[in-house]
Amino acid sequence: MEGDLFGIPHLDIYLVFGILLAFGLLEIANGMLRASKRKTGDWIQEAGGFLVLSQLIKPGIVLLVYLLGNSLFPQYSTFLYGFGFIPVFLVYLLVDDLLQYWYHRIAHEKPFLWKLHRAHHQAEEMGFFVSYRNAALYYVFMPNIWWIGLILFLGGAKAVALGLILKQLVIIGSHSTLPWDKVFYKNTFLKPVITILQRIIITPAFHHAHHGKSKLDGVSDPNGNFGNMFSIWDQLFGTAYFNNTFPQEYGLPHSTNDHWSASYFYPFIKSKDETSELNPSFSKEDTSTNEPVFIEIEKGKNYLWCACGKSKTQPFCDGAHHGTKFKPILFEGKKNGKVRLCNCKKTGNPPFCDDSHLG
Ligand code: FES
Repeated sequence: MEGDLFGIPHLDIYLVFGILLAFGLLEIANGMLRASKRKTGDWIQEAGGFLVLSQLIKPGIVLLVYLLGNSLFPQYSTFLYGFGFIPVFLVYLLVDDLLQYWYHRIAHEKPFLWKLHRAHHQAEEMGFFVSYRNAALYYVFMPNIWWIGLILFLGGAKAVALGLILKQLVIIGSHSTLPWDKVFYKNTFLKPVITILQRIIITPAFHHAHHGKSKLDGVSDPNGNFGNMFSIWDQLFGTAYFNNTFPQEYGLPHSTNDHWSASYFYPFIKSKDETSELNPSFSKEDTSTNEPVFIEIEKGKNYLWCACGKSKTQPFCDGAHHGTKFKPILFEGKKNGKVRLCNCKKTGNPPFCDDSHLG
C-alpha cells in the first residue's frame, strides 16, 4: 500500500493522533479536567474505546478486506492507480461520509443499533474523546471502515490518508469543548463566512445541537444533524438544523447508571440498571390512549409532544422515542388555557386532537 503523504512514512497516523492530542491538551489547558464531572468509567470507555478502535478494530477490518481482496481479486489491487489523485480522493471521501451519515441516522432509528450508539449520547459533557464513545460492535458494523479497507486494497492509500486527517480535524473539532466557530457568530464580518461554511462542513454548533438533551431548549435537535464531516447530507435528506448557539445540557433525557463494560460490550454484557435500555428486562410499553388529553398550558412556553406513544409522561415526550423513527413535536403555547392534545398519536394535526381516534 503506497500511502505516504509528502514522502513522509506514516504522516497520516502521526497527524490523526496529533490532532486528538492537540485538542486534548488545549481542552486541559482550558480547565477541562477541573470542570469535568466524568467518572472513571467514562474515561475508561472513551480512552479505551479510542485505543481498541485505532489499534484493533480498524486495522483488523482493513487487513481482512485487504487479504480477502488479494486472494479473491488480486488483479484489482492496483485498480485506482489508473485514476488521478483528486477524483479518487473525492469519491473516497464523499462515499465515506455518505455511508457514515446513513449508518449514524439508522443507529438513531433502529433499536439494536441505537443500543450500540447510545453511550455516545449518554455523555453529559462534550470533549475531544466523546467521538470514541460507542459500543465496540458499533465500530465493527460501521460501513465506512469496510469502505476504507476496500479503497486501500484498490490502491487508494494516499486518498485515505488525507481523508482521515481532514475527517479527524472536523470530527474532533465538532465534539470539542473549545468550539472554534463561536468567534464567527459574534463578529458581524465573520458571520457570513460561517453561514457558508456550516452549509458545507460540520461545525461545533451544528453537532453540539445533536448532543443536546432535548429539543425543548429550542437549540438542540437530537433527531437531526447526523452528518460527520459534511452537512450536505443533512440538508439533502431533510435532517439539518442550523443554529448559532450551544445547548446548556447534554446527554439523554433519562440518565441511567450503566457500568462502562455494559455500554462498551453490549450485547455481550448487559446493564444491571433496570431502567436502562441495556438491561435484558427493559421494555418500552405503549402508553397511548384512545382519548385526547386536556392540558393547561402557558403562553410563550415550549412543550414537546410525544409522537411515538411510548412516553411515560404522556402527552409529553420523555425521550423514549430514541431508537425509533419517531420524533417529538415542539410547540409553543399561544395563550394561557386548556388545549386538547392528541394521545392516540394518529392525529393529522399534531400535537392537537383532530378526532382521528374516533375513526
Ligand atoms: S417519547 Fe419522545 S416522541 Fe414519544
